[in-house]
Amino acid sequence: MANPINRRRPGRGRLPGRIPGSAGHSPGAAGRAARAPIPFARPSVGREEERAIVRVLRSGWLTTGRVTAEFEAAFAAYVGTGHALAVSSATAGLHLALEALKLEPDDEVITTPYTFAATAEVVRYTGAHPRFIDIEEDTLNIDPALVERSLERKPARVKAIIPVHIGGLPCAMGALTAVSARFGIPLVEDCAHAFPVRAGGRHLGTHGKVGVYSFYANKTITTGEGGMAVTDDGALAARMKVMRTHGIDRESWDRYTSPDNSWQYRIVAAGFKYNLTDIASAIGIEQLKKAEALKALRTRAAERYLRGLAGCDFLELPAVHPEHAWHLFIVLLKPDRLTIGRDEFISELAARSIGASVHYTPLHVMPYYRDAYGYPPEDFPVALKQSLACVSLPLYPDLSEEDSERVIAAVKAIGEARRPPHLRAP
Ligand SMILES: Cc1ncc(COP(=O)(O)O)c(C=O)c1O
Repeated sequence: MANPINRRRPGRGRLPGRIPGSAGHSPGAAGRAARAPIPFARPSVGREEERAIVRVLRSGWLTTGRVTAEFEAAFAAYVGTGHALAVSSATAGLHLALEALKLEPDDEVITTPYTFAATAEVVRYTGAHPRFIDIEEDTLNIDPALVERSLERKPARVKAIIPVHIGGLPCAMGALTAVSARFGIPLVEDCAHAFPVRAGGRHLGTHGKVGVYSFYANKTITTGEGGMAVTDDGALAARMKVMRTHGIDRESWDRYTSPDNSWQYRIVAAGFKYNLTDIASAIGIEQLKKAEALKALRTRAAERYLRGLAGCDFLELPAVHPEHAWHLFIVLLKPDRLTIGRDEFISELAARSIGASVHYTPLHVMPYYRDAYGYPPEDFPVALKQSLACVSLPLYPDLSEEDSERVIAAVKAIGEARRPPHLRAP
């Protein structure tokens, strides 16, 4: 199925002037001092989470137990998968998935360089190597045509493909599942940004062999730190569960609740310590109940940006999709229409007390991957180009209309003030 994405749209024409009620072109010292900072991200947690934590604190069982099992069952039912395994982070979940897929040293895993450290470092944990594939210009997601071409050229040793739904925008899952099926290589979806999102009739995270979600503090639902790995494959789920807790065949809750209340366990592998506590799971259960409502608020905030920035000719707005988690709102600056670059643009936002960030500096230019694999920056030209242009604006459910307007006004003011002389109105 074609990916129903509206591609990035260049802004058109000259900017309108001030937005009514906005700061206008210059924040001014007084205006700046009077204004509360707008953070880049902010978790939405409330009374429900507070009460849930207190219940666990009073229950006598703090670590992985009944509440975590409840969270896993609720999550599995929600995304429609056979198994869900709560983990201490998405990084842990991705690592468990690759371990369960039996990666070996010198195997390869196809993924994008345009991602966070975790996506590729887990490949290195296993001794395998990431095979980076460039991204699409507009979606910033891995380019499935390039994945296919790379596999046609050199299929040997590739044991998994990890697509990342950047910012919550679905990758071209139809094309990627077709490539996965053609070459018999499992997909492990990195859904750290992409919950809850359906694409092609099913939740992201359930299109491939394993899907992994992050509940890190700035994610679309959070447990502070945490994650969830989902799969329909019982054998993979069983292996991940054992490896989540030291390679022990019966977790302490399973032992505690077994009919014989036996202390006995066996270590069947050298595993990890990747379990999620009941305290975190209690937060997760409440966040899961709010997931759709939180997404609606993020979507509303993103739509305000899309409307408010529509006329800006110095940036490209993010591609949109009927289903989008809106974890991030990434605009791309047009270098020929500004006298400043990405970093100065972010500094100018900071001077107006507005948090912004970069997603991402591609991994192949980071010292570790650059030096270990000898990549020249131009090896992934699209990732490189877009990384130099990308600015992530503040986006979270509680971003008020007023603060959205402030961000829009600031972006416009900076763009206007930094317009090259030959593009200024006479
Ligand atoms: C794309 C991506 N993958 C994986 C992770 C790792 O998530 P966690 O912090 O839960 O380990 C992140 C975290 O930000 C991420 O952005």
